[in-house]
Amino acid sequence: MSFVITTPLYYVNDKPHLGSIYTTLICDAIARFKRLSGEDVVFITGVDEHGLKIQRTAISKGVDPQSHCDEISNIFIKSWKDWNITHNKFIRTSSKNHESIVNEFYSRVKKSDDIYIGVQKGWYCVGCEEFKDNPDNSPTHKCPIHMKNLEWRNEENLFFRLSKYQLQIENLINEPSFIQPKERRNEIINFVSKGLKDFSISRTNVSWGIQVPDKQNHTFYVWFDALLGYVSALSHNMNNPSLEKSINNGWPADIHIIGKDILRFHAVYWPAMLLSAGMKVPKKVFGHGFLTREGQKMGKSLGNVLDPKVLLSKYGKETVRWFLLKDITLGSDGDFQNKRFVDIINNDLANTIGNLLNRTSSMSRKWFNNRVPNNELLNDDKTLELYAKEAVFTYKKHFNSYEIDLAANTVLNLAINTNLYLNEKQPWKLIKDENNISLVSNVIYNVLESTRIIGLLLLPLLPDLSKKIDLQLGSIYNDKISWNEQLNWGKLIKKSLLPIPSPIIEKLEHE
Ligand code: MSP
Repeated sequence: MSFVITTPLYYVNDKPHLGSIYTTLICDAIARFKRLSGEDVVFITGVDEHGLKIQRTAISKGVDPQSHCDEISNIFIKSWKDWNITHNKFIRTSSKNHESIVNEFYSRVKKSDDIYIGVQKGWYCVGCEEFKDNPDNSPTHKCPIHMKNLEWRNEENLFFRLSKYQLQIENLINEPSFIQPKERRNEIINFVSKGLKDFSISRTNVSWGIQVPDKQNHTFYVWFDALLGYVSALSHNMNNPSLEKSINNGWPADIHIIGKDILRFHAVYWPAMLLSAGMKVPKKVFGHGFLTREGQKMGKSLGNVLDPKVLLSKYGKETVRWFLLKDITLGSDGDFQNKRFVDIINNDLANTIGNLLNRTSSMSRKWFNNRVPNNELLNDDKTLELYAKEAVFTYKKHFNSYEIDLAANTVLNLAINTNLYLNEKQPWKLIKDENNISLVSNVIYNVLESTRIIGLLLLPLLPDLSKKIDLQLGSIYNDKISWNEQLNWGKLIKKSLLPIPSPIIEKLEHE
């Protein structure tokens, strides 16, 4: 049994922004954690390439939609590489495999008698690719997310009988584990309680989409097409892909991680579509919050969009990863403030973790012949061992409940406690008396061992920094031994050589 985790499939109207990086980094940390814990992980990401929004973007650039999609999709692929994302599947919804799976899915839904022809009237937001309420029925009414005028639609579309699934969806969303976090679940319960309305799944005014097989001039509604990307991703690298084969290759997903604005699609429309096709529903949908910058919504018109490429080249990926994973509670909104970002990196990574490692390894090298001390003599000081055991337990519990920030803070707390222990023991004073040598060797061993565990716990969160910590400790990580096993106390080899320390991270300057 594999663990299947997905990011949303990002629209290719533009290159990745910090919001897309955020979700992808979260999924990456979870995927790494699950792999290290011994699970077989399928990590799906990709791009949503059809629909009016993309069609219009291509037209405005004067290029055909496919070339536009190729260009932006390649930027996404390159960007995921730059951010060290460990996905196994990257789905493009303009691919042939995807198209055939959408068609097969559609015929299943049709067989369930869930498709009919009707007239769709309403106000549409092209940015959201969604019909919206327009209480004053005004042509200048703006979508609250995109701040653009809604557009009136009155056309013949194919409809999906969502209303038929009212009871099943109610039962599903009432299961406490299905929607996380709790507050978001309540929003959805409230929405569903008003009664589900059938929704249109085809368009006659959009050429850039998958042609509906039995309905000329109709393309599939971009969301009907895109959600299926999660399934067609499972057919990646498959010869003669089919819906059945994709399902057998890992469906249902264990978790969809998405932003709060698209929760309804994932927690209501998507499960109903799957039920109609006789498929299993995803096990969990997690709706995370939005990122703002210095307290303001990020937007092109506001001119305050944080370009992840700039962040990456200026600060490096580990620092941004740490900030986004440690400082923002998954589910709540988060604010990117430059001053706070610099402070957090300097305090947590450079001072608390980096200095701890450097000064301890320097002391060890100086007093124990460039090596980890030999503490074979009685080491009955269990203070750090107990802290570390507790930290490993708490960290795993948090990670398994998707409390990534709490997991990261657990590692940081272990580093804080290790610093306190070192300052309290003051080995630099003890060493002055020869009789204290075994005491000093125990203290230094305990601190180095705790740092080794800190490095291991950082592996899913900050893979590169974790490797640097390991290098400083003499490259003792062994990928032939399970991570869980290596997390046990006492694995640091006595008397092993320690390389000359160098800072694992440079301090950042305030702007
Ligand atoms: N294409 C659809 C998803 C289809 S999934 C089958 C889509 N794409 S999107 O590119 O517009 O958004 C992708 C994700 O980015 C969404 O989860 C959205 O919530 C998220 N974010 C967009 N702006 C964001 C922030 N400012 N902060 C955090 N996430 C944000 O919707």
